[in-house]
Amino acid sequence: MSEQVELIVEGKSIKLPVIEGTEKEKAIDIAKLRSETGYITYDPGFKNTGSTRSGVTFLDGELGILSYRGYPIDQLAEKSNFIEVAYLLIYGKLPTSAQLTAFEKEIAEQSEIPSNIGTILNGFPADAHPMGVIGSLLSALTAFYPESIEANPSPEALHKLMVRVIGQLPTLVATTYRKSKGLPVLAPRKDLDYCSNFYYMMFAEAGKEYKADQVIADALNKLFILHADHEQNCSTSTVRIVGSSQASLYASLAAGTAALWGPLHGGANQAVIEMLEEIKNDGGDTAKFILKAKDKNDNFRLMGFGHRVYKNFDPRAKIIKVACDQILGKLGVSDPVLTIAKGLEEVALSDQYFVDRKLYPNVDFYSGIIYRALGIPTEYFTVMFALGRLPGWIAQWKEMRDDNEPIGRPRQIYIGETERNYVPIGNR
Ligand code: CMC
Repeated sequence: MSEQVELIVEGKSIKLPVIEGTEKEKAIDIAKLRSETGYITYDPGFKNTGSTRSGVTFLDGELGILSYRGYPIDQLAEKSNFIEVAYLLIYGKLPTSAQLTAFEKEIAEQSEIPSNIGTILNGFPADAHPMGVIGSLLSALTAFYPESIEANPSPEALHKLMVRVIGQLPTLVATTYRKSKGLPVLAPRKDLDYCSNFYYMMFAEAGKEYKADQVIADALNKLFILHADHEQNCSTSTVRIVGSSQASLYASLAAGTAALWGPLHGGANQAVIEMLEEIKNDGGDTAKFILKAKDKNDNFRLMGFGHRVYKNFDPRAKIIKVACDQILGKLGVSDPVLTIAKGLEEVALSDQYFVDRKLYPNVDFYSGIIYRALGIPTEYFTVMFALGRLPGWIAQWKEMRDDNEPIGRPRQIYIGETERNYVPIGNR
């Protein structure tokens, strides 16, 4: 007989089935809890709640393990390119070389954006935060492609929608950037690989010959792969829950972008660089900022440190730390905040407060230093995270729809005024 858990509620015993994942992680299935007992569970922040069964990404926060579709993250970061990983996440298998070439070609062919996007962009203030702009543009895609709001697209139609948004997002980002700077917008180059084309559209000089730089393309591929998926995090859960109402893919991605923007999630990469700059400008005294982070009367947190699920090293952070030294070395860039970051990490890792709470550097601690070395403006760091996370959001949205998951709708414990004491409105 399969494993069960016994729960006693008001003296009545009920048996709840246990679900086991492929990596032996276990969950108590409470689907019948309310109908059998009248009780619900209460779990703020969903710290103990599994919202889905997923076959996309596995992570073990205690052991510091992360894999996409069964492939260890360090292998993918070392040996794959981003589009290959996107295919793996979305379709569940690594593509053959013919499939990869065809996928890359399809994406490149879909990389141009409607010309009216330029008109929309003209309406934004030049200093608008790009995460707000990109979220709006993702949502605007539904207007240009009305077929995208079809509640149940065929697999072929869905494939087209997915390929189009993967192709267009770098163009939307680069167009947003160049328009905000008053620079001429560059059309995507289909002869360049995905990452080189993005970099070209961002930074090439109009009318000048452009030579793609392999160090830059490799760095972007690595960072995008490391960001590509992270199971049921805040933005991915948002994408799934929005999509569960049968909202369109593009609308769900816009919602995911909004969730990612916050400094406790993807927005941390911008916050880390701002924090490191603040420490540098304050004279570089890392111990002072460690004290601030420990002070419960101070709102300051050590940005880029801590994680909801990693209670050991974030494996992405380990890879990025090594990559950071290598990439800055190859680019011939030396950044004083890298020394501050390393000093801060050393002090924090030996401090009892951080040790007791198992707080380690996360993916965002060193990634911003690489983005800065590549010339990416600070306010675009979280946009870079979104570019990387896009295939993960798509894969998770597709899985949720393929599995016919019900609409996401949590319950609550009501703690407001009660109707039992109400004063009839006319009698006040
Ligand atoms: N600096 C100082 N104290 C911290 C930090 C930090 N960065 N992170 C957690 N703590 C403390 C927190 O104050 C609490 O202490 P106590 O038990 O004394 O009240 C304890 O550690 C547990 O923290 P929590 O807020 O209950 O943990 P959580 O799982 O709800 O939050 C987190 C996880 C990532 C939001 C949090 O660690 C944090 O705010 N970190 C800084 C922001 C950051 O770097 N975010 C990026 C996350 S990685 C990218 C991504 O995938 O989103």
